[in-house]
Amino acid sequence: MTSGAEAVNREDMLLPRRMRGLQPTLIRQFFERALPESINFGLGEPDLPTPQFLRDEAARVARDEQNGYTSHPGMPALRTKIAEQYPHLDLPMTGVVVTCGSQEAMTDAFMCCVDEGDEVLLPDPSFPAYDACTRLAQGEPVYYRMPADEEFAFDISNFRSKITDKTKAAVVISPSNPTGKIMSAENYRQIAEALEGTGIWLLSDEIYSDLYFGERPHSASEFYDRTIIISGLSKSLSMTGWRLGWAACSDPEMINAIQVLHGFTTVCAATIVQKASLLAWTSEAEAAKQNARDIYKKRGEYLVDLFDRELGLKATKPEGAFYTMLDVRSLGDDIEIAEKCLQNRVVTVPGVAFGNEAKGFLRISFCNTEERMAEGVRRMKEALV
Ligand SMILES: Cc1ncc(COP(=O)(O)O)c(C=O)c1O
Repeated sequence: MTSGAEAVNREDMLLPRRMRGLQPTLIRQFFERALPESINFGLGEPDLPTPQFLRDEAARVARDEQNGYTSHPGMPALRTKIAEQYPHLDLPMTGVVVTCGSQEAMTDAFMCCVDEGDEVLLPDPSFPAYDACTRLAQGEPVYYRMPADEEFAFDISNFRSKITDKTKAAVVISPSNPTGKIMSAENYRQIAEALEGTGIWLLSDEIYSDLYFGERPHSASEFYDRTIIISGLSKSLSMTGWRLGWAACSDPEMINAIQVLHGFTTVCAATIVQKASLLAWTSEAEAAKQNARDIYKKRGEYLVDLFDRELGLKATKPEGAFYTMLDVRSLGDDIEIAEKCLQNRVVTVPGVAFGNEAKGFLRISFCNTEERMAEGVRRMKEALV
């Protein structure tokens, strides 16, 4: 007779295949090695304070109210406000699931769209979580190029060329992390035309949709029915730690699947946060978002100009979010350059962290005051020029 321990097959003791090889992103790896007193051009985390009226409301709710679970997909009043944000869809509140940050909505959406062996089209460059989520769902990432030499603009012919009969989903992000670029209505029309009739899901990451410096960006869902919107409050209202996001979709079967998975993963987003977030669509909140747009726009212009004047290097013109891509190809390898910056107390992220197309660039986030950005550029000059 074999003992219980002997009967265990060693293969079964390994991590499941979907987890093997998953690593923290290079973004985190650089950030975690930052020297004391570093200037942070690395993380995409707003430095503006969370608006006071939201803090006060959360404090009041915690103090005065009983806060049990909400229903899994969230408070009806909150889901209704979110649904109203997409008037073109005429969504019932059941078309929305409130999640613990948009990251949870994203993971849920991938798990509900992608099966083993399915191909998922991802922009190159883009946020590394899409690659990780595709692999978690046991799908295959397939990259379409956003060409560096065209300022990382969308290229429909490249997108089309990657569609196969195994393609199950495609991801778009606008405004983009890492490039700060915005997809035009024409870009979305071209995508809709390419996907129409294929059944392919379009996962649209709209987490930066309130941070734009020109015209308000379109939602992919205005153009293509099988779109799953992924969004939240983290970036526009400096609420990263509150963990309030959502998935929205007009397909009842898909949003129901997301709701079921979400229920088993997190039960519900924190009730105190959901209640306070009801104020995220008030005139006070709109004023706070406008203030954030004004500040990030000014900072982006300031920083791009500074890179040009001080380092003689070009950076992409930010159209939204709070990122620019600094072209360091003339200086060498982006990982080595980011390392030199790190050693001189400036955190940046090598472009290759977001895909091969961004090799030779650094992603710079401008979640810093002008004074600190000037000091950061001074240190970069010391390290690089
Ligand atoms: C492109 C993108 N999507 C999603 C997220 C997740 O944000 P959250 O989970 O805080 O809503 C981030 C955060 O950095 C991001 O940059």
